[in-house]
Amino acid sequence: MWTPDDIPRLTGSTALVTGANSGIGVPTVLELARHGARVVMTARDLAKGRAALETIRAEVPEADVELRRLDLAALSSVREFAASVDEPIDILINNAGIGIIPRSTTADGFETQFGTNHLGHFALTGLLLPRLLERKDARVVTVSSDAHAVGRIDFDDLGLERGYGRFSAYGRSKLANLLFARELHRRAEGRLLSVAVHPGSTSTGILKLGVLTRPVMALAGLFLQSAAKGAVPSLYAAASPAVRGGTFIGPGPKELRPRPHALDEAVARRLWETSEELTGVRFEMLDPHV
Ligand SMILES: NC(=O)c1ccc[n+]([C@@H]2O[C@H](COP(=O)([O-])OP(=O)(O)OC[C@H]3O[C@@H](n4cnc5c(N)ncnc54)[C@H](OP(=O)(O)O)[C@@H]3O)[C@@H](O)[C@H]2O)c1
Repeated sequence: MWTPDDIPRLTGSTALVTGANSGIGVPTVLELARHGARVVMTARDLAKGRAALETIRAEVPEADVELRRLDLAALSSVREFAASVDEPIDILINNAGIGIIPRSTTADGFETQFGTNHLGHFALTGLLLPRLLERKDARVVTVSSDAHAVGRIDFDDLGLERGYGRFSAYGRSKLANLLFARELHRRAEGRLLSVAVHPGSTSTGILKLGVLTRPVMALAGLFLQSAAKGAVPSLYAAASPAVRGGTFIGPGPKELRPRPHALDEAVARRLWETSEELTGVRFEMLDPHV
């Protein structure tokens, strides 16, 4: 079975991990740094980010890790951050996620789960595309979920004005992550490798934010995997030579079959075009005639 010990030496590579201050993001950064990558870890709250950075440095003293601020729920922050990235990127891990929360909107007025988990990462990836294409075979890993199964995209109601469910809204954002990863693979095949992952049910903050109360969370923690285990699909997708573009990697790690509605190329294309319009970010270096 593949484990993070199988990650090849990454010396000379730069990786960027979003939402790296807690949960699955921390061991993702830690293992990439342990294997020699320079890692840019991002957090929307720098105080939380510094605490995570200290944990990582305590375990990997030689880690070449830099902490930068990025709020995916504000396109101005995404633009400011991307403009500050002036080095080639080998690995981008779109890991940050907000989940199962009451209805709210981002700084730009998008429903928060869709706006953060999908549109924020869509814009980030598009703005970093020139930095990714400076490398041969850069990888973009987008953290989706098996919760995509309950997601549906109604292009006439992207704000979910006609009815909001916390879990279905989360499922919609994770479906969008998966459709995006596969559409990026189709558009960028041969130029970069795009993969989606499902970490498996993991004891992290996202569940505490959501449906699980503190006592239930404590009980559930007995059955949920650790954040280190939850990071394995992301690490495998980021670093294993065996990974194929356009796939969906889950616990094992192994390839998972997405639900049929996540394989709908017409929906993926429409989501891409809609996301370009909503964010104002266009992937100009990729072939639009697909
Ligand atoms: N845990 C699971 O069982 C599970 C299952 C399937 C998929 N996933 C996915 O795994 C990924 C990692 O989540 P996790 O389980 O590790 O949960 P987590 O501990 O809550 O981590 C989520 C991270 O995303 C960050 N984030 C939230 N909103 C953000 C924003 N507006 N801008 C920038 N960063 C933001 C959080 O920052 P703050 O600390 O500031 O909130 C945190 O660092 C997510 O994409 C999630 O959907 C998790």
